[in-house]
Amino acid sequence: MNSENRHSLSLEEIDRRTVFHAATHLKDHAGGKLGTPRIIDAGNGIRIRDTKGNEYIDGFAGLYCVNVGFGRMEIADAIYAQAQKLAYYHTYVGHSNEPVIRLSEKILAMAPEGMSKVFYGLSGSDANETQIKLAWYYNHVLGRPQRRKIISRYRGYHGSGIMTGSLTGLPVFQENFNLPVDDVKYTETPHYYREARDGMTEREFSRWCAEKLEQKIIAENPDTIAAFIGEPILGTGGIIPPPEGYWDEIQPILDKYDVLLIVDEVVTGFGRVGYNFGSDLYKIKPDLMTIAKGLTSGYLPLSGVIVSDKVWEVLEQGSEKFGPIGHGWTYSGHALAAAAGLANLAILEKEKIIENARTTGAYFQKRLHETFDDHPMVGEVRGVALLGALEFVADKATKAKFDADLKVGARVSTACLDRGLIARPMPHGDILGFAPPLIVMEADIDQIIAIAKDAVAEVSNQLGKGDV
Ligand SMILES: Cc1ncc(COP(=O)(O)O)c(C=O)c1O
Repeated sequence: MNSENRHSLSLEEIDRRTVFHAATHLKDHAGGKLGTPRIIDAGNGIRIRDTKGNEYIDGFAGLYCVNVGFGRMEIADAIYAQAQKLAYYHTYVGHSNEPVIRLSEKILAMAPEGMSKVFYGLSGSDANETQIKLAWYYNHVLGRPQRRKIISRYRGYHGSGIMTGSLTGLPVFQENFNLPVDDVKYTETPHYYREARDGMTEREFSRWCAEKLEQKIIAENPDTIAAFIGEPILGTGGIIPPPEGYWDEIQPILDKYDVLLIVDEVVTGFGRVGYNFGSDLYKIKPDLMTIAKGLTSGYLPLSGVIVSDKVWEVLEQGSEKFGPIGHGWTYSGHALAAAAGLANLAILEKEKIIENARTTGAYFQKRLHETFDDHPMVGEVRGVALLGALEFVADKATKAKFDADLKVGARVSTACLDRGLIARPMPHGDILGFAPPLIVMEADIDQIIAIAKDAVAEVSNQLGKGDV
């Protein structure tokens, strides 16, 4: 497109002609059929505004990341001050910068017992790519390079790279991309509502999931398994908290076969579930932890891999055996992102935001349940603290799903949007997800619930399902 043309076009039209959007129907967007782009140009607190002047409550905090809310001058100032001093220098061969040192100290103070070092990236996906390389390297150092397979879970989400898109157990991220790669295997989705066999208690279902995992490890040959990866609460796969005792049942199996546990805390880290990490809530003992999103509340891209003492010891042996580790990114430990992370974590602490996520989160769960439990179109209401979801069903008694072509989840999301609320249609099934900024107050929750209630009623009435 030449520059003369560009001047006479709207910003929307330039977008349609020049921007390649993620997770978008490319032709319909480019052809203007979707009414997109929606250009967001301002945000404050839990609200954002588009260029047409529409204001929305962001009930999904961007992509569950803007945990301290929009428009935080403290973070902007920290980035500005650092940019004036030193915007960037690499962290290869022992180079460092003060923000990254201070941030690492802070992260390790927040992390569960037994964590040793932080390696930085820019996205959850690259951090999980690092995890897999570390799991492989660890096994090389220990003289067992045949341990290459990684066990993930159907409906887990770990990114959309080549390896991470393979770890992501959702067909839409794999079909037509020749994924998954060979070394990735899957075990069951711990979703009691859909997967439990008749009559099982939650605890029995957790044990069943662990048995399935053990059978998988044995079938694949334990000597070929490097690691298991899981989110404490399944996120993009449908916002599914684990059944009671799930992590207590899973961890001994991994220990028994000496399989590393990678805990992906990209969504659950830094307060989303009312604790520092999902690992604190479920008493998980990670060998490796993945962090991103809430680390900077999205003000700049930053992710990390937190390495346990157990793994670190072996990595050090690796340096003795093989020399410097052959892994790194140009922007690992970026000074501006680290400054943003420090300012963000300072806000979390000063404003007691994690405590707010726990108390206001409990209120949110209560309101979700009292509003939707009896709704004829809602099969399951679920969540923990400030993560929540509604799963829509055609028949509440049989749990029968709607015909996918009806796009019920997307329709409810659109009905929310029309009323000024962003709630996300999750990519697998008719599920509406909520993950508001962690600064929400009870009055905000009441507003979110009231809008969602109206939106569900509208779609339910359209489908002849009625309302409560
Ligand atoms: C649990 C989890 N892991 C990894 C990722 C990938 O992060 P990114 O999109 O920053 O690559 C996501 C993204 O939503 C996620 O939810």
